[in-house]
Amino acid sequence: MLFLQLPLLAVLLPGGDSEEAIQEPISFQLIQISSFANQTWAQNQGSGWLDELQTHSWESELGSIIFLHTWSKGNFSDEELMDLELLFRVYFIGFIREVQDHASALKLEYPFTLQVSLGCELHSRETPKSFFHVAYQGSDFLSFQNMSWVPSPEGGSRAQNVCNLINQYQGIQETVHGLIRNTCPRFVLGLLDAGKMYLQRQEKPEAWLSSGPSPGPGRLLLVCHVSGFYPKSVWTMWMQGEQEQHGTQRGDVLPNADGTWYLRVTLDVAAGEVPGLSCRVKHSSLGGQDIILYW
Ligand SMILES: *[C@@H]1O[C@H](CO)[C@@H](O)[C@H](O)[C@H]1NC(C)=O
Ligand SMILES: *[C@@H]1O[C@H](CO)[C@@H](O)[C@H](O)[C@H]1NC(C)=O
Ligand SMILES: *[C@@H]1O[C@H](CO)[C@@H](O)[C@H](O)[C@H]1NC(C)=O
Repeated sequence: MLFLQLPLLAVLLPGGDSEEAIQEPISFQLIQISSFANQTWAQNQGSGWLDELQTHSWESELGSIIFLHTWSKGNFSDEELMDLELLFRVYFIGFIREVQDHASALKLEYPFTLQVSLGCELHSRETPKSFFHVAYQGSDFLSFQNMSWVPSPEGGSRAQNVCNLINQYQGIQETVHGLIRNTCPRFVLGLLDAGKMYLQRQEKPEAWLSSGPSPGPGRLLLVCHVSGFYPKSVWTMWMQGEQEQHGTQRGDVLPNADGTWYLRVTLDVAAGEVPGLSCRVKHSSLGGQDIILYW
């Protein structure tokens, strides 16, 4: 039961006003990956994510937002989205130029990668949380807290120097603050509402059994595959009658290319214990009709 995860479904009530209906945290984040190969060559990649679902990407050549779903604009007007697109375009170009200009003074060593994650997390009964984190070479480097840039302990004096530099630009602080505190939560509520049909859909799992590599003499590895379900939350166990088999090993829930999920659960058993074993799957799409497959 520990395995039940927060379904995205839980944040929404059918037809309800999304603000009222938020029950679990849900986050929206923009991810930026900037790679600097040498003094003259750099590139940016950008994407937008609602929890684990990618909703947006960034076309670097044109400097434009790509909306990956029909509902990825949420309830924002084309004007507001164009303003945001322009802001990101200016930001991406300026980001590369500023980093290149200051790289040697700040002792950033080529080649290096900067990763940025910014966004907000909505909770039912609390004010939204917002975040802006930067990593350098894969380690925490600095973050935005209370209107100023704060170095991470891992970032050392290099991060301190970067913060000292960018804390001088009050305009940037105000823009970032507005983006993650105001724009982001407003956008997410509109997104949850516009994407309701997609986000609340129910897709039934298929399940099948196979045997894995033998764990040892006289032993079998029983594998139960569950695939094609949505939302992500699923319960799957090897059973002997009504008895849950505690040796059940659960893999990670992995994404399928079509936005549904896949899970594999295994059981290592002595060949003699196999009779009567079954794999049982519970999922919200099954309306209480569990899938039961006998070995
Ligand atoms: C900079 O890096 C790019 C991409 O790796 C490479 O094509 C280019 O030759 C490099 N330029 C210099 C001056 O090293
Ligand atoms: C941020 O500001 C608030 C109110 O001004 C204060 O209570 C809080 O301690 C500050 N947090 C940090 C991390 O500085
Ligand atoms: C979008 O929806 C949210 C939540 O209902 C609302 O706060 C916001 O004003 C709406 N419109 C825009 C343009 O953000």
